[in-house]
Amino acid sequence: MNHKQALSNPIFKIVAHAAEELGVDCYVIGGFVRDYLLHRGIPKDIDIVAVGSGIELAKKVASKLDGKPKVSVFKNFGTAMIMSNAVEIEFVGARKESYHRDSRKPVVEDGTLEDDQKRRDFTINALAISLNKSDYGNLLDPFGGITDLEQKIIRTPLAPDITYSDDPLRMMRAIRFATQLGFTIELPSLQAITTNKERIEIISKERIVDELHKIMASPKPSVGFALLHKTELLTYILPELLALQGIEEIEGQRHKDNFWHTLEVVDNICKTTDDLWLRWAALLHDIGKAPTKKFHKKIGWTFHGHEFVGSKMVYKLFKRLKMPLDDRMKFVQKMVLMSSRPIVLSEDFVTDSAVRRLVFDAGDHVEDLMTLCEADITTKNPKKQKKYKDNFKIVRQKIKEVEARDHIRNFQPPVSGEEIMKTFNLKPSKEIGMIKEAIKEAILEGEIPNDYEAAKKLMIVIGKKMGLKIS
Ligand code: CTP
Repeated sequence: MNHKQALSNPIFKIVAHAAEELGVDCYVIGGFVRDYLLHRGIPKDIDIVAVGSGIELAKKVASKLDGKPKVSVFKNFGTAMIMSNAVEIEFVGARKESYHRDSRKPVVEDGTLEDDQKRRDFTINALAISLNKSDYGNLLDPFGGITDLEQKIIRTPLAPDITYSDDPLRMMRAIRFATQLGFTIELPSLQAITTNKERIEIISKERIVDELHKIMASPKPSVGFALLHKTELLTYILPELLALQGIEEIEGQRHKDNFWHTLEVVDNICKTTDDLWLRWAALLHDIGKAPTKKFHKKIGWTFHGHEFVGSKMVYKLFKRLKMPLDDRMKFVQKMVLMSSRPIVLSEDFVTDSAVRRLVFDAGDHVEDLMTLCEADITTKNPKKQKKYKDNFKIVRQKIKEVEARDHIRNFQPPVSGEEIMKTFNLKPSKEIGMIKEAIKEAILEGEIPNDYEAAKKLMIVIGKKMGLKIS
């Protein structure tokens, strides 16, 4: 079958002409072909393989393009890249590769197109479309990639043990593609991943995290995490999560399996938010449960303080995985730390003051926190499920009402420290903090409205009680 329609971008004709002038054959290959055949929209990156020098071809193409874009050459890898109309075009020479055992750096030799295709990760990524005059638009599929696309299978062109051992990042890629595309990893591949799992240690944290992000951005990340668990890669990547797995029973009392529960929470939250970091918060919201788990004869299993312990673990985990330690990490920590607040609040009668405290502590992230807690409802008991959901609706409504009235979200003390000092003729001292704290408490408790006049009156009352004199 001819796939000329895949080549509607005028860049392909330019590449074809450049290659013809150089007398080399070239093909578009990899993700572009795969995504075109899967109708995943117009792919943004294009990979070109030349049977000859990819770098020379890139230079020739650039010389033919308007504005003569810069060619970025990566000599060590034998590749070159051009940006044209916001599309990244990568050029590589066809290679026959073999890898060193302890690194991902291949020993490169020139090869044919088929040599190159068989050294790629998956049959669905080894599909190539010809840009040559004689068979322009023809699909070259020596390893059954089309059948695998149709049957939704992740399979390696070579024996899986070779493909994964050559480049262990592919173990993560297999799981990521299975999650993103809803494909199945064929059994020999799964077995090879399990066998080669330790080799993930030679892969940089950044690349592993890139794949984790892609799994997290998928509609159902649990697919990926279940595979990471099954292949035991999770042991090397997120042992904190693995530690949540299992159900213990003592004297007939069981706790839930917090690993599988967590995966349900993540899938739930993906239905309501695309925010990557809120999704991460869902993944990590219970990680403090493993180190805090205890059994008490009278009350059964407890996880006291797991939110606090969990939020500390977030920092260590982000640091280990070289994830950002900025506001994104702080946001995840805050969500983990506060993850039980709305549920505790909604178990009882929902009071205004409890809602005010929640808004005060969560600030601008109060809606995100509610989204997390709603996703956390995984009970299979329909009565409980309804009760929690209804209560959360009440909480959300009250948040709106309280916010409209009391403006707690970005709370600023209505009376400043300076005014307190002036009123009572005080130097900077702990009394000022105490007065401010008492005013804030009164507002959160609903004893006074959040406004200047009421706060000033209260300040005078408190000051007098403390024995202070008005100056
Ligand atoms: N590839 C490979 N082994 C890897 C990475 C990439 O064999 N570890 C090959 C595959 O043929 C892949 C192509 O290089 O299709 C391009 O890789 P990349 O741009 O990283 O991924 P895509 O397949 O394009 O997919 P995505 O953009 O979703 O990452």
